Amino acid sequence: MKVLGIESSCDETGVALVETRPAAAPALLAHALHSQVEMHQAYGGVVPELASRDHIRRVLPLAQQVLAQAGCQLSDVDVVAYTRGPGLAGALLVGAGVACALGAALAKPVLGVHHLEGHLLSPFLSADPPEFPFIALLVSGGHTQLMRVDGVGRYEMLGETIDDAAGEAFDKSAKLLGLGYPGGPALSRLAQQGDPTAFKLPRPLLRSGDLDFSFAGLKTAVLTQAKKLGEDLDERKADLAASTEAAIVEVLVKKSLAALERQGLHRIVVAGGVGANRLLREQLNAECAKRGVRVHYPELDLCTDNGAMIAMAAAMRMQAGVERAAPRYSFDVKPR
Ligand code: KG4
Ligand code: ZN
Repeated sequence: MKVLGIESSCDETGVALVETRPAAAPALLAHALHSQVEMHQAYGGVVPELASRDHIRRVLPLAQQVLAQAGCQLSDVDVVAYTRGPGLAGALLVGAGVACALGAALAKPVLGVHHLEGHLLSPFLSADPPEFPFIALLVSGGHTQLMRVDGVGRYEMLGETIDDAAGEAFDKSAKLLGLGYPGGPALSRLAQQGDPTAFKLPRPLLRSGDLDFSFAGLKTAVLTQAKKLGEDLDERKADLAASTEAAIVEVLVKKSLAALERQGLHRIVVAGGVGANRLLREQLNAECAKRGVRVHYPELDLCTDNGAMIAMAAAMRMQAGVERAAPRYSFDVKPR
């Protein structure tokens, strides 16, 4: 069974084709991605209306590209999957509309997928996929969650952010430091030249005794520190970036270790854009190695939003019998 996946929840248009296999995880046949980052950069953040319009321009050419790469025809597609939410309403509607229109035209069933389930299952696209059960650390621009995963569709939320997401903390701090948008990767690059112990920044909820996160206070602390530095900020920017990154990463690593310990598990999957962070990977790998815990990441190019994870999640849900794709002549999205 071939599943075409369409992702359009925010500022990347992603399309991919996966094929299910008996007694194995589905295989990725082809995927293509168009990032709108450059287009939004001028505005310092994602402009929803521009995002929707660009998805409209990109999605069908990307689908054609993917089918050509895989040596397939549109008529070879058995199921069309799309991101149903969460995300920007207008952006989601583009993917949903196109997916349901393709399904109707081809008389093939359609399946809406939760964006975070896509991230969560994205490590199954790697050469060394994880085994259930595992802890999942989902760290993106909009979410920070720790979950226990016992199988496809069997997810237990252990903790999540009560305010900003980890990616938001990176992006907002980067903006304060004048590093542009999206700031996460830029802040991380600058941090490599700085001293992570230079500034004492808060580690919110580190000792809260639960697995929840809070990053809003950190952003305020970075702002206070930047104001205090005044004209000296330019000189100390790398130090402040390094201290910020260290604070975010320490909380993510300590809470992840606590989740593993509480659940008695020895496997963790890290997914979402922040999962590409170098320091997070270094520290989590080191701490997990000490404890005999296996860490799984998606391939680096599949950490951020993409169509492959959506096609994969749909294929795995169908394969596990959790959900069946159905013919659809109307569609809906769930922005929240
Ligand atoms: O999963 P994703 O692509 O989109 C959402 O669903 O949100 O995550 C995007 C987030 C942004 O906040 C971005 O700054 C952050 O991931 N990010 C990083 C890095 N690469 C992406 N944050 C820190 N270090 C990175 N290397
Ligand atoms: Zn995402």
